[in-house]
Amino acid sequence: MIDAPADSLDAAVAAVRQHTDATPDLVLILGSGLGALADEIEDAVAIPTEDIPGYPRSTVAGHAGRLVFGQFEGKSVLVVQGRVHLYEGHAPSVLGFPVRLAHALGAQRLLVTNAAGGIDPTMGPGTLMFITDHLNLAFVSPMSGPVREGEPRWPDLAEPYNEAWLDRAEALALQHGIPTRRGAYLWTTGPSYETPAEIRFFRTIGADAVGMSTVPEVIQATALGMSTLGISAITNAAAGLNAEPLNHEEVMEVGRQVRGRFATLVRAIVAES
Ligand code: HPA
Repeated sequence: MIDAPADSLDAAVAAVRQHTDATPDLVLILGSGLGALADEIEDAVAIPTEDIPGYPRSTVAGHAGRLVFGQFEGKSVLVVQGRVHLYEGHAPSVLGFPVRLAHALGAQRLLVTNAAGGIDPTMGPGTLMFITDHLNLAFVSPMSGPVREGEPRWPDLAEPYNEAWLDRAEALALQHGIPTRRGAYLWTTGPSYETPAEIRFFRTIGADAVGMSTVPEVIQATALGMSTLGISAITNAAAGLNAEPLNHEEVMEVGRQVRGRFATLVRAIVAES
């Protein structure tokens, strides 16, 4: 594992402040294939994450990551294009860094999205699923390690996804004629996709969709008192549910296919939040 860098949130805030004095209301984390939404931000100020002290270094070649500040639907937002995954080798304690930084800059809300495999067989590729709850099958936490100032030792996770926000978002989807589902998201470490036996097990324990992100960000946000809304774009049937082998290109391609509906939905949610 990569050692956790020195905990330099003050230095990170100062680095951001050299580029912008924005105080984002909302932080938006975009999943695989859904990143194009960042191009629709107005008056955008993009900061490479490698210019931010303490930001976990991306291990994906050519994808340094960016934080994009600007206006979206009349709101001040921060779009995170530098998501940090456990499978890149980072320590669990740094997985919440983007959320901690957003919070330190003023964000009180997290809108988190991801690409996920559908475990519920009625959730095929292209389904947009509001996350009602999650299962942490990576068994690690961004809160592990010494207690950080302003954070609880044992954060409560009784309502990690804000139910009132979810109800409103669902109503907006209906108004825009966008079909959505609700379900529980299960986090695995990856980077391998699951085995059919693992998917059978996950279904038995209550998971509707599976992926390799989101949960650490939501734990971090909840611990900081932020409200969270989560949306999974189902990009494939989970392992064993159809004959096709899984691959990342398929995940990206379905992400691109849902882009229009997804962008409309996210716009509507941000506009009214
Ligand atoms: N499993 C894990 N992560 C994923 C999947 C999957 O089937 N699809 C997209 N991300």
